[in-house]
Amino acid sequence: MDNFEKKEVLSFSSNLLNNILQNWLLITCGNINDYNMMTASWGTFGILWNKPIAQVFIRPSRYTFEYILKNDYFSISFFDSSYKDTLNILGSKSGRDFDKMNIEGLKAIDYEGKTVFFEQAKQVLICKKIYSLKMQSENIETDIKNNFYKNGDYHHIFYGEIIDFLKKI
Ligand SMILES: Cc1cc2nc3c(=O)[nH]c(=O)nc-3n(C[C@H](O)[C@H](O)[C@H](O)COP(=O)(O)O)c2cc1C
Repeated sequence: MDNFEKKEVLSFSSNLLNNILQNWLLITCGNINDYNMMTASWGTFGILWNKPIAQVFIRPSRYTFEYILKNDYFSISFFDSSYKDTLNILGSKSGRDFDKMNIEGLKAIDYEGKTVFFEQAKQVLICKKIYSLKMQSENIETDIKNNFYKNGDYHHIFYGEIIDFLKKI
């Protein structure tokens, strides 16, 4: 935690949409001895139930799905573009087949026993899981369904209350 400072959660926003689009996200769940992470390029952020909220979209086929189901917290780490290769690996290999906890170039940091984030991140959101739902086939617009869900692996949406925002000092 030495290289990070806690910021007011509501101050999180800086160039958010562009950042997600360009540099993606890393979603991590578990504890320092047993965690898994996956790359995502989708995420939505806003206010619900008067709380600052992050939504992430995870298909049941992901190993991370098992972790997010069994953990109450998750983190969202933002990196600069120099981590794109690392995020590509974490977004193309599964923790079922690859030792993600020992990937070169990322050092995990325990977050108050709740979850894990990475020393190399430039910004991190710590999220408490407060709601989830499975996307319903009948509610999805046909073109989107044909583009993204031919295999029926519908995302589940996990709503995290953003309880902390960490910024690299
Ligand atoms: C740029 C990028 C964005 C991705 N976005 C998502 C996403 O939003 N949701 C998802 O379920 N998978 C997404 N993936 C795929 C997972 O990251 C990938 O399947 C990963 O290997 C899952 O790892 P796991 O099995 O260890 O959880 C994305 C992959 C890449 C490269």
